[in-house]
Amino acid sequence: MEKVRQRIVIFDYGSQYTHLIARRIREQHVYSEVVPFSTTAESLRADLPAGIVLSGGPNSVFADGAPSIDPAVFDLGVPVLGICYGMQIMSQALGGRVVAGTAREYGKAELKADGASALFAGVPESSVVWMSHGDRVERLPEGFRAAAVSANCPFAAACDESRRLYALQFHPEVVHTQFGERIIGNFLFGICACRPEWDMGKWIERAVEDLRRKIGDEHVVLGLSGGVDSSVVAVLLDRAIGKRLHCIFVDNGLLRYREVEEVEAMFAGKLGLDLHVARAAERFYSALKDVEEPEAKRKAIGREFIAVFAEEARKFSHCRFLAQGTIYPDVIESSCAPGGPSQTIKSHHNVGGLPPDLKFELVEPLRDLFKDEVRAVGRLLGMDPSLLDRQPFPGPGLGVRILGEVTGEKVRLLQEADRRVQEEVRKLPGYRDIWQSFAVLLPCRSVGVMGDQRTYEYTCAIRCVNSIDAMTADWARLPYETLAAISSRIINEVRGINRVVYDISSKPPATIEWE
Ligand code: XMP
Repeated sequence: MEKVRQRIVIFDYGSQYTHLIARRIREQHVYSEVVPFSTTAESLRADLPAGIVLSGGPNSVFADGAPSIDPAVFDLGVPVLGICYGMQIMSQALGGRVVAGTAREYGKAELKADGASALFAGVPESSVVWMSHGDRVERLPEGFRAAAVSANCPFAAACDESRRLYALQFHPEVVHTQFGERIIGNFLFGICACRPEWDMGKWIERAVEDLRRKIGDEHVVLGLSGGVDSSVVAVLLDRAIGKRLHCIFVDNGLLRYREVEEVEAMFAGKLGLDLHVARAAERFYSALKDVEEPEAKRKAIGREFIAVFAEEARKFSHCRFLAQGTIYPDVIESSCAPGGPSQTIKSHHNVGGLPPDLKFELVEPLRDLFKDEVRAVGRLLGMDPSLLDRQPFPGPGLGVRILGEVTGEKVRLLQEADRRVQEEVRKLPGYRDIWQSFAVLLPCRSVGVMGDQRTYEYTCAIRCVNSIDAMTADWARLPYETLAAISSRIINEVRGINRVVYDISSKPPATIEWE
């Protein structure tokens, strides 16, 4: 992607809100990117950002090995906004005094802002903000003054306006901060002089041009999973290079009911793409024979996926490029996470796993976008909303929803049960607020009675959760009528299941999938 001129760089100090800061900035149509906190001033000098934000973080500045900052960052002449931990690290680096708090301040607080500060232009003198900190700044660095106070915090905000350095003890990025959007906007437009230019329509035009320039007359192969990201990549590439795009879809036999047919109808039928379906269900079932341990199952599925994909991709050795639906959270996760790149959950989809004779160059047109931006691109490309609003579906598919050994027969049973869950849940007005809804096949059978017949069949668990990012989740309070309809339809219509239970565990301590 051609460099966007104006950008805000966010130093990541590990806060759960770091992504949120980046999104809040983009929502105001300014491009932002997250970088590791160890980024040096020197590395930024060649292409100076319009502004820098130091995120919050879970550490204390006094902890051993606490994340620090290259002090030369403050001499770049670029405005800096420190948030929470970012305020403390800024104060410490510039000669202020930070003290360890005796109690953590957490929750809403009343802010008294100084209207004279550019950061609070248009913000009422009194407003509600969200605090979450242990340490606090006791003495400001030289040149700084207090710009806002709260009951517990004499320096709820501070600034050195001559150097354009700003600091907030509270979190402007969370919705509980009443004028957070205004404060962030003041930093972007009033202080950093950004222009609101980040726009998905323009992004598409630029992305299509960049793809054409990069790909030239060459061909591209794309692993299509049927999920949102790779589908948007397919449509974007179709717009950029048309018939020189070749899509591979692996039918691993672990997909939802009629998913393969739906993908074919949509991509080959409606969109007219060159789609190659690798029908490999039986190969996956053989690889999964007698495998019961969850991690061993995942590994078997991952290995088989790479083998099948590589075999299929070999037929496209005339393609110079391999396209992937990597999105920005995947990039941040691998570049900023303390554990490094190995942490990515989609690893078995990555080109890294392909055999060395397949030397594709990567094309990842969505690597700068957040999920909601990917959906916006899809909408602007005219994609079907039902495709864009799909629930996340794990790479190993129903393999992580069948406990114990996976067989073709169990997959068919689960597909039938799951299909009924989908049909019933989709009728709910709040369907789009549900993060995931699905059925799980348990490896135990129990006695039931059907008519005059004794039955001895499987139990199926229903899992429906609400979540923002899958890191935490709560079980969805489905109406009893919906639960009743799901249960009676599965038990009456799916032979092989005679008992349905609803999973009422939250994550943590449970996970979303059962495996
Ligand atoms: P858990 O079960 O760990 O799942 O609470 C969190 C979220 O991640 C999805 N998930 C996966 N997604 N490949 C994926 O692309 C995987 O291997 C995988 N495993 C779990 C899961 O559906 C949930 O949304």
